[in-house]
Amino acid sequence: MQEKRGIILSGIRPTGRLHYGNYFGAIAKFIELQEQGHCCYYFIADYHALTTITDRQDYLRQTIDMLRTYVACGLDPAKSVIYRQSDLPCTAELSLLLGMITNIGHLERGTTYKDKMGKIPATKGPEGNPLSYGLLGYPVLMAADILIVRADKVPVGDDQRQHVEMAIDIAQKFNYRFGEVLNVPEAVSRNALRLPGLDGSAKMGKSDNNTLDLLDDPKTVLQKIKGVQTTTDPLPLDTDSDDPEVVIPKMPPSLGVLYRLLSLLAPIEVYQDFLGKYRRGEKFYGMLKTTLAEHVSKFNAPIIERFNAPGNDDQSVRDFLRANVAKVTPVALDTVES
Ligand code: TYM
Repeated sequence: MQEKRGIILSGIRPTGRLHYGNYFGAIAKFIELQEQGHCCYYFIADYHALTTITDRQDYLRQTIDMLRTYVACGLDPAKSVIYRQSDLPCTAELSLLLGMITNIGHLERGTTYKDKMGKIPATKGPEGNPLSYGLLGYPVLMAADILIVRADKVPVGDDQRQHVEMAIDIAQKFNYRFGEVLNVPEAVSRNALRLPGLDGSAKMGKSDNNTLDLLDDPKTVLQKIKGVQTTTDPLPLDTDSDDPEVVIPKMPPSLGVLYRLLSLLAPIEVYQDFLGKYRRGEKFYGMLKTTLAEHVSKFNAPIIERFNAPGNDDQSVRDFLRANVAKVTPVALDTVES
């Protein structure tokens, strides 16, 4: 059934190459919504990336490459409005306004901020808390991204759920104070994905060195997948279900990530066949890894080809950025001026 048409917005930081968590947590949904004919705004969150990136050259290169990967995956700048956050500076103005009504206590409860806070040594330097004002205010800027285009839906992976909830709270508080000015978006679906890392940790993440990337060539894919630690003693599965949501959490985490990827990429019979081997206690790790690597490389091949295609060079990215920011700017200014 066709979903109700609405305004969609989402973004990705240009902090490295796109990985499978980004793809299955976010981009696959971006493409689906684009093809359903919704009004889609997809941007590169280059302001947000400044909480981690420090090298200016890397920053520009990564921004352009990320946009070329968007296009290579199937995002179409003629159907979706694809832009760079910093080309829409009124977002920073809305963020400033939202910051005036946001409690510091609310922001201090953000999981990203709390995680980083937890890693600071107990004996802080002479300036006290070394974390940046930008990091604390990260969810406010994210709320501005969402609210400035009056988004109804924000497709993101599970790790961004709390940030979208904060945007909803901020919008409601703003409207309570000043009248119904802002559109309050929907909460993130409970089914949003959190893809584990190749190291078996809970999340595949750019800064954790545990990613499988969309631009990885076959040799790199095989190397990364072969490097996944597999225990010699798989745990009993304790369920008859084949449903990845039910069965995969019962596996050792690093084996779980292999089965999760297989369930996303291979035909269902292949996934079920390997589940059968697991249940029967057969030796299958080597075959599982080579089969999965083949499916990953098959998935990556057309993306790599389109990434390098002549019509997807730096200049064409610059051209569509210019055309697309002209489409989003009036919408954003209208929100800020209201
Ligand atoms: P970022 O760049 O960390 O991630 C981009 C998108 O990929 C999803 N994702 C995952 N999904 C499932 N499993 C994973 N292991 C995984 N890793 C990443 C993220 O959930 C996200 O959807 N703060 C955002 C960028 C942003 C934004 C916004 C998003 C800025 N403003 C406004 C939506 C709306 C971020 O850092 O995403």
